[in-house]
Amino acid sequence: MILELNRESLVPLYAQIVLKIREMITSGSLKIGDRLPANRDLARRLGVNRTTVTTAYADLVADGLITSHVGRGTFVSGVPPRDRTPRPEQRHVPAVQWDTLLVPETRDRWLGSMWRFQPNKESISLGHALPQAELFPLDEFRRSIDRVLRREGRSLLQLGASNGYEPLLDYIASQMSLVGVQVKPGEILITNGCQQSLDLIRRVLVGPGEEVVVENPTYPGALSLFCGRDAKYISVPIDAQGLDLDALEDIMVQRRPKLIYTVPSFHNPTGLTMNLASRRRLAEMVARLRVPMIEDDIYGELRFEGASLPPIKAMDSSGLVLYINSFSKMGFPGLRLGWIVAPGVVIERLNDAKVRCDLHTSTLAQAAVYEFSRQGLFARHLRRVRKAYAARRDAMLQALDEHLSDIATWTRPEGGMSIWVRLPEQVNAAELLPQAAEAGVLFTPGDRFYSSLPKQNMMRLCFTMAAPDRIGEGIKRLAELIRQRVEAAFSRGAASRAEAGRALV
Ligand SMILES: Cc1ncc(COP(=O)(O)O)c(C=O)c1O
Repeated sequence: MILELNRESLVPLYAQIVLKIREMITSGSLKIGDRLPANRDLARRLGVNRTTVTTAYADLVADGLITSHVGRGTFVSGVPPRDRTPRPEQRHVPAVQWDTLLVPETRDRWLGSMWRFQPNKESISLGHALPQAELFPLDEFRRSIDRVLRREGRSLLQLGASNGYEPLLDYIASQMSLVGVQVKPGEILITNGCQQSLDLIRRVLVGPGEEVVVENPTYPGALSLFCGRDAKYISVPIDAQGLDLDALEDIMVQRRPKLIYTVPSFHNPTGLTMNLASRRRLAEMVARLRVPMIEDDIYGELRFEGASLPPIKAMDSSGLVLYINSFSKMGFPGLRLGWIVAPGVVIERLNDAKVRCDLHTSTLAQAAVYEFSRQGLFARHLRRVRKAYAARRDAMLQALDEHLSDIATWTRPEGGMSIWVRLPEQVNAAELLPQAAEAGVLFTPGDRFYSSLPKQNMMRLCFTMAAPDRIGEGIKRLAELIRQRVEAAFSRGAASRAEAGRALV
């Protein structure tokens, strides 16, 4: 029996043995009654562990293809059932017209499209608001997982509580109290991140035809939920202080929206933060006008400098502020772990919606994060990333000052992950992107963050994923391309150099 294994293959060795022996039986090169080599002999011949062959034989026994008799050996005893399905090339199957089956798309695809443009290893990535994976403390986190598995592995791998892992709920409650939010564990729901929190809140609060207020621009994941198919929404501009509160108050009075969504700290994409007075005013407006509001505080912990500000939830006398946060930006987005703070009666409804959706969030992930936090490792990780990101933000601001200050303007955030850049009017950021990608730099064109009237000359630059020197190089390359476009616009005679220069900034 000649059997060759491919050690480079992703198929485990035991499975390769199973497949090869199956093939031999199917093709007739092994017949019923033929004897197979003893485990030990086959293992030696193939240079694999004996348990690899034992596992493969056990699979074949379970499929009824071979039988083992103690003392006599292992024999072929059955033939795999023939696959009677004709091969694809023998069948005539008309192509499925998926377009007619899928519901019409509008903005629902926004978030998906963001992920199609993946950076390759060489490109300078200024496009994604994500933590830098090289800063993940892998060994420490692995030890946290080991510890919880050893301590309570059986219950962690069993189906768990839908509202969340109790020690993590208690821990979050204690952390929230540090920022002035007094909350009981029954007022918290653990979710698979802020994106799921937004989806759950929309499901339980926004009925057909009801309007949601969104900032313009805002996080595309929120746009895909609140401004998608069948949704009704109202865009409110943001100014240097964040949400334009005068405009919002008018809308709240006149339109009675069902829900407001805001990111008051280190807003995505602008990096802007609402000041204390505005936070107070917004909390007061929400309470007076009785409109529920989502406060998305996902970047709140990523402050590098300046006085920290309490979340609006800390000023919420009415309970109408639904606070959401997650471990995605301060920690590890791949864990998919976030939480909602809301009155108990709302949490109950959110919990029902969560159960319908996915029963609960991974208890193992929750326990590992709890353990990681309990040991003080999360706090240490946060200190480390804040320092690293502050250096990167400085590098980006310095490079922008050096290369673009005469033709563009931008925000100067005290934390978060992104800077919002206004380019000369003639430069269309979406058209610039493929050219920039070719030059090895990625960014996100600003138009995809708008709920209405998208501006074409805006771009979001994220400073977390590239090292400071790479950021400098990336901005330099971008600046060259931007200048080329401006020059091209001038030479087309669109405007005189002097006139345009004034209009640009
Ligand atoms: C403002 C904002 N909210 C929510 C999310 C999604 O977060 P999560 O990974 O917790 O679902 C993001 C991600 O970029 C974001 O920028």
